[in-house]
Amino acid sequence: MSRPVSRRSGAVDPFIVMDVMAAAAEKEAAGGTVVHLEVGQPSTPAPRTALAAAHAALDGDRIGYVAALGMPALRERIARHYRDTYGAEVSPERVIVTTGSSGGFPLAFLASFDAGDRVALAAPGYPAYRNILAALNLEAVDLPTSAADRFQPTLGALDKAGPIAGLIVASPSNPTGTMVSRSELKALADWCDARHVRLVSDEIYHGIVYEGETTSAVEVSDHAIVVNSFSKYFSMTGWRIGWLIVPPELVRPIERLAQNFFISVPTLSQHAALAAFDGREELDGHVRRYKANRDLLMAGLPAAGLDRLTPAQGAFYIYADVSHLTNDSRDFCTRMLAEAGVATTPGVDFDRARGTGTLRISFAGSTAEMEEAVRRLKQWRRV
Ligand SMILES: Cc1ncc(COP(=O)(O)O)c(C=O)c1O
Repeated sequence: MSRPVSRRSGAVDPFIVMDVMAAAAEKEAAGGTVVHLEVGQPSTPAPRTALAAAHAALDGDRIGYVAALGMPALRERIARHYRDTYGAEVSPERVIVTTGSSGGFPLAFLASFDAGDRVALAAPGYPAYRNILAALNLEAVDLPTSAADRFQPTLGALDKAGPIAGLIVASPSNPTGTMVSRSELKALADWCDARHVRLVSDEIYHGIVYEGETTSAVEVSDHAIVVNSFSKYFSMTGWRIGWLIVPPELVRPIERLAQNFFISVPTLSQHAALAAFDGREELDGHVRRYKANRDLLMAGLPAAGLDRLTPAQGAFYIYADVSHLTNDSRDFCTRMLAEAGVATTPGVDFDRARGTGTLRISFAGSTAEMEEAVRRLKQWRRV
């Protein structure tokens, strides 16, 4: 008899949106058309500056291993980004290049926590946080949130969470697009710092903002870990490149982990990422399109009965409360896809308890797709 699979891998949930994507692909293969509001990635390639740098690197560089913490030029460029964008002085030594932000999470968690530690996070939230925590024998502690608090963690919820070693905050958030203000982030960071709790700030949607201003955790705490990526604003999902900003005492522990886990981050992607910072004009054009898409959906969806919408301040998601229409968001999304040809993500992916009455609508696609989605949904809800 073979050995059973490990308990910690068994604790990892599947990503239900994958089922929606498979059903959408099946519908398309059968000749149907689908408007894709389920995808959590830009519909555009990397900026032209990044593509040109990648071509040049292919021609001129061996593309061998590089230092585990990243190419020095890229670490310096990322540090400069903090000065330019936030007015914050970040030493390049504290910048660690990672294989997407996904590659940064295990490094951040392993360097900060020991097996059995409890780490708090908002529900609804990005599902990989809890799944990576589970795989590392860490306990995810759900912080209940409300629409009134823009689905973000509050000090009151933290006070009730019991002993925790870490707090994950995402602003703008996936799936709600909501943000914490500078004063809220400062209060959360102060709460953490006073209790030796490690704040992990997921800032992957910074740059994609419509209302308010993003604050980086480096501006309000010397002890927080910032997680970021070239996937969203920089439109480089498949290049698998991101970064961490960590307190000085975590640099060497993370370097040792990164050397052993990954050796180094894809070199071609590092060349491209360095040049992506020069593609801002093109990238800001994408953000203007996302804003137009958001405004179009916020105005159009209510006529299709989807009128309980969380207004996204950033990212490219609208979180819709559909609890008056269904108590099974998975079934609702399946029917919406089959009958209207519109694919969305059921809320259960983000909130196991309350997500049966919610869904996530991504507006990362083209404006024409958003128009078509509204047209189809209006027609569907009239039947
Ligand atoms: C909030 C959030 N964090 C992290 C990630 C991981 O992105 P990547 O590994 O491409 O940087 C995603 C991807 O959708 C996300 O939505």
